[in-house]
Amino acid sequence: MAVEPKTGTETARLSEARERYVARGVATSPLFVERAHGATIVDVDGREFIDFVGGIGVLTGGHTPEAVVAAIRDQAERYLHQCFSVSMYEPYIEVCRRICELHPGSFAKKALLQNSGAEAVENAVKIARYATGRDAIVCFDQAFHGRTLLTMTLTSKVMPYKKGFGPFAPEVYRAASPWPYRGIGTDEALASVRKLFKSQVDPQSVAGLIHEPVQGEGGFLPATPGFLEGIQEICREHGIVYIDDEVQSGMGRTGEVLAVEHYDGIEPDLIVWGKSLGGGLPLAGVSGRAELMDASHVGGLGGTFGGNPLSCVAALATLDQLEAPGFLEHARELGIHLQARLREIASGCPQIGDVRGLGPMVAIELVSDPLTREPDPAMTARVVALARERGLLLMAAGIYSNVIRVLVPLVAEREQIDAGLEILDGALADAA
Ligand SMILES: Cc1ncc(COP(=O)(O)O)c(C=O)c1O
Repeated sequence: MAVEPKTGTETARLSEARERYVARGVATSPLFVERAHGATIVDVDGREFIDFVGGIGVLTGGHTPEAVVAAIRDQAERYLHQCFSVSMYEPYIEVCRRICELHPGSFAKKALLQNSGAEAVENAVKIARYATGRDAIVCFDQAFHGRTLLTMTLTSKVMPYKKGFGPFAPEVYRAASPWPYRGIGTDEALASVRKLFKSQVDPQSVAGLIHEPVQGEGGFLPATPGFLEGIQEICREHGIVYIDDEVQSGMGRTGEVLAVEHYDGIEPDLIVWGKSLGGGLPLAGVSGRAELMDASHVGGLGGTFGGNPLSCVAALATLDQLEAPGFLEHARELGIHLQARLREIASGCPQIGDVRGLGPMVAIELVSDPLTREPDPAMTARVVALARERGLLLMAAGIYSNVIRVLVPLVAEREQIDAGLEILDGALADAA
């Protein structure tokens, strides 16, 4: 559905350069940004877009929030890079303190910082393995944990993430995760974890179990009631480290700081943070039980850039924004509004088979026939392309690429949200 850019435009010039110099495997949309603020992007030809993607869920606080930009400017004049292992700096420690305080559970916690969600997931697995002395990792259908060798192995979507990139990392076992619209409920999913321990791997060999409380790339599938309680219980029963991947669902995306807070009594052993943590700069981290975080020998964890000073001050300003009065309330109201409006749109569009989500982390699943529930990735691609032509940025998700997810900055004004939903409604009607 790629539309050729108009001849003579900046978009056409940059598209040509992109074709010439940037690797084909990097997926791109025909949009070159000139500037962005809040939930608005202006492109190099002066066109304005409402942003329902937020750099793939990175901008809960919006593009260029004043406090984040000011903190980065101020830090840039003091020092840019140190490497925390060479010379330490307070902003790194402060980010660790803040994410430890946000980690549910009354036990002692510690943290470390990395550059990307994938790198942080890798570190969570290293920590779980070291602390338990075990090798195996349990992950789930519809999971997405990143694109490095291990995290791609943990991921559950062949195209585009796995095809041609094997062999994969060993000792990874996959169970079912709830997807009520396609017949998998809490009981089936929990039974499939327990079955793994009979058919594939001894639970005493399992170091960690990693799960996203709302599966993001997999199609915005929130954990069903009882599922997180169930996996937490299984982990406790067998001494398995419960790793909660909140890279996409954290930092207020669901109307709570962490998505697991929607579920009673969930206290993950390790939490993986990323995306919106850095307010637009690359930053990720792992927080968790102090005894697990401290298990490794000195020097076993770290990296050159992890917890870069600019990213840390941006994160501190972003955490302030997240914890400011009204921020999460606004996100929750936005969630109610988005879900209601999407259901209204769905009532007039039979191709929307399911509307689902948690708070403002919502999505629609498109099917060619509501009875057979046959996924419709072609219509999904048409909707995304039509919406972009009309000034709304959308992104698909789901293992069948037939889900349209909303990752709008949570600071977006109601009028902007409604204008975006109008465009979506029109694009759905025309694409159908
Ligand atoms: C749940 C989850 N985990 C991990 C990752 C990987 O993060 P990154 O792309 O920063 O490596 C992502 C990215 O989309 C994600 O959604």
